[in-house]
Amino acid sequence: LANGLGMTPPMGWNSWNHFNCKIDEKIIRETADALISTGLSKLGYIYVNIDDCWAEIARNDKGELVPKNLTFPSGIKALADYVHGKGLKLGIYSSAGYFTCAKAMPGSLGHEEKDAKTFASWGIDYLKYDNCNNDGTKPTVRFPVMTRALMKAGRPIFYSLCEWGDMHPALWGFKVGNSWRTTNDIADTWDSMMSRADMNEIYAELARPGGWNDPDMLEVGNGGMTKNEYIVHFSIWAISKAPLLIGCDVRNMTKDTMEIVANREVIDVNQDPLGIQARKVRSEGDQEIWAGPLSGYRVALLLVNRGPQRYSITANWDDLAIPAKSVVEARDLWEHKTLRTKFVGNVTATVDSHSCKMYVLKPIG
Ligand code: DGJ
Repeated sequence: LANGLGMTPPMGWNSWNHFNCKIDEKIIRETADALISTGLSKLGYIYVNIDDCWAEIARNDKGELVPKNLTFPSGIKALADYVHGKGLKLGIYSSAGYFTCAKAMPGSLGHEEKDAKTFASWGIDYLKYDNCNNDGTKPTVRFPVMTRALMKAGRPIFYSLCEWGDMHPALWGFKVGNSWRTTNDIADTWDSMMSRADMNEIYAELARPGGWNDPDMLEVGNGGMTKNEYIVHFSIWAISKAPLLIGCDVRNMTKDTMEIVANREVIDVNQDPLGIQARKVRSEGDQEIWAGPLSGYRVALLLVNRGPQRYSITANWDDLAIPAKSVVEARDLWEHKTLRTKFVGNVTATVDSHSCKMYVLKPIG
């Protein structure tokens, strides 16, 4: 969407994966505090996004959405002021339907202009717009109504389409929003995560600065996968130029979780100015090679082992669109080491079960 936002994939946090409907203003404030105290905000995690269940079931007598008095008594404007005071941005959620998915609050269908104005007046910076409880008309009709409303609201608001991929939003999303979900909801398991990665990969060539494929939010730190599986999760999301929206309780992260989401070198791949989403360039059974170009003639490479045993995986220059005779230097992004060996023709690495190796390759001759 040509609103100047999302020139690189958005980074931040969202309440849904960990808290579902059990949110309140204290959690939001403490999360903002934690993004600062952990140093995550400095790495780019600036959006603090409230998902479903923040509003009263009834609008006020002016027809406006009202923050739930029990859980958000200070109101959303006060929260926006709070997070803005810390240099962060505030995101909110609604649905292109009569009610949101949790049916705990009204949706914005038929109230798009009013709600966009309300959000702007509160200081909202990001809107996630869901697809539940709609009137059966096409998302290609309902989502652009909110686009126009946001464009008129008087404040730049990142617009995240949450259509779940049914009507292939990658094909029409670029003019409508800054990101679009290519999948239904992720769960905190290896199979769910990998299948979302696959569904999202199909649309790789449609992602670009200003509009990104969204395979759903991160589950890193929520406890359902091993450390290596979460490393694969984060690596695929990064190389796929997916939004990096942390979905755990950032007030209580383990050292392992922090080590994953705070990997600056992997984040740099995600935030590379070229904004080209990696593709699965080759797969043989459980062995996969994901790769894509980075600025400066570099290449991001991810070797993924989906199987139960260890493999040696080889990526050839052919797979990676690197000229045949190039000599290449490899930086291992999880070991934080530039390998001593210089590579000619291919890179080979041993990859454990449900694990990956991630490199930035730089031709040096
Ligand atoms: C469905 C979306 O896909 C989820 O990410 C979340 O926003 C829930 N709705 C909230 O009800």
